[in-house]
Amino acid sequence: MGPTRVVDILRDQPVGRPVAISGWLRTRRDSGGLSFLEVNDGSCLASLQVIADTTLANYDSEIRKLATGAALRIQGQLVASPASGQAVEVQAGAITVLGPADPATYPLQKKRHSFEFLRSITHLRSRTNALGAVARVRSALSFAVHRFFHEQGFVQVHTPVITTSDCEGAGEMFTVTALEPAALQGTEPFAADFFGRRAGLTVSGQLQAEIFALSHGRVYTFGPTFRAENSNTSRHLAEFWMVEPEMAFCDLAGDMQVAEGFIRFLVETALEECSEDLELFDRYVAKGLIDRLVQVRDRPFVRLTYTEAVAELERSGRDFAFPVRWGLDLQAEHERFLAEEAARAPVIVTNYPIGIKPFYMRVDDDGRTVAAMDILVAGIGELVGGSQREERLEVLSTRMTAAGLDLEQYSWYLDLRRYGSAPHAGFGLGFERLVQFVTGMQNIRDVIPFPRTPGSAPC
Ligand code: 4AD
Ligand code: MG
Repeated sequence: MGPTRVVDILRDQPVGRPVAISGWLRTRRDSGGLSFLEVNDGSCLASLQVIADTTLANYDSEIRKLATGAALRIQGQLVASPASGQAVEVQAGAITVLGPADPATYPLQKKRHSFEFLRSITHLRSRTNALGAVARVRSALSFAVHRFFHEQGFVQVHTPVITTSDCEGAGEMFTVTALEPAALQGTEPFAADFFGRRAGLTVSGQLQAEIFALSHGRVYTFGPTFRAENSNTSRHLAEFWMVEPEMAFCDLAGDMQVAEGFIRFLVETALEECSEDLELFDRYVAKGLIDRLVQVRDRPFVRLTYTEAVAELERSGRDFAFPVRWGLDLQAEHERFLAEEAARAPVIVTNYPIGIKPFYMRVDDDGRTVAAMDILVAGIGELVGGSQREERLEVLSTRMTAAGLDLEQYSWYLDLRRYGSAPHAGFGLGFERLVQFVTGMQNIRDVIPFPRTPGSAPC
């Protein structure tokens, strides 16, 4: 049996019983013949206080020299704590130093470090309070994603990481090749490549999810996606995780309903399961966070068409850096204005101009807009992008040709409309943006363990 985890000790509080814990020393304070050790094992935000005294055989030789970061195994007894702020502590009977940490070189000392500095030590930053909390919230949200869809009878589909279709058609695919760089020349270098044609890392699992929506009805995929997009912002990564449900016999209204319920469910789960970690973020990272999350959980989202959103932005009289005009895409500053100031709630913007959205979105009756919806939230802008898909073979082929796609190469996608086509819809939720939204963390690089951004992939 391994050691008991601190989270279980704090929950069960078996005072008087022997306990064995293992963890890393956060701080040591000496007073008289006693040392007070704060030990954290990553199972929760709280550390457990361990009292060491001179009866320990290694007290003078090791314990009084212990420094922040050392890995320890502690056996002792759980006792009620006289100190305020904690109910229990451990009276140590034996402490084994498993791995010391030299204070002269260990970068994580007691003071608070900037997130920017912590990004330079990705391999150690998960040992800090804030980044440790992010990892727990991320894990709880990931599990909640699967629970939500599982409980509603969705089938999970593992869509491919390597693909030959560019779903978003934005030309942001990383190429995957087995050729030596010198062989990547000439007009058709990929004909001699591993797959016999150009392949890349997926930008979205949607097109493959559509295949299974049209056999299983309600499906979802949740995996890493990749975009060689040169956007050095606090909301873009080159490798990020996306949740993509796809539903047959579903229109745009149904799509929005599922997406809104999904976000509410995730926020509610975080409030219930991660309250201690969220309090840390509320106190040190984003004041008022918990109140804002409670509002998201309890209030309906606001719905606007793109046309109404543009009118609202024009009426605002704001001096935006990017122009606002019907036909132009909304920028993060516009999206944030709508969610943070105009609606003061998450906003679902629908029916965007056809010219700024990908080929697969269903053309509206007026021919000018498509059945798209983006969900915009405070602090971030776009959290979800989705649509009803074009199920009419003729309309889809015309749009694909106009988008410059090779119909031959996408014949499988057109077959879905040729045989048993049905209305269907889905969306993609950027998982890191969700973690940002729930934790209030400013920079997307701090909510994924190993961020990949232009010029940076350290380990
Ligand atoms: O709006 P996007 O590009 O939509 C799609 O890829 C659709 N195929 C999804 C679907 O309908 N199944 O991306 C979806 C979401 C965005 O709303 C955003 O939250 C996130 O993915 N996202 C990014 N997150 C981090 N870094 C990036 N570079 C991102 N690009 C998109
Ligand atoms: Mg989008």
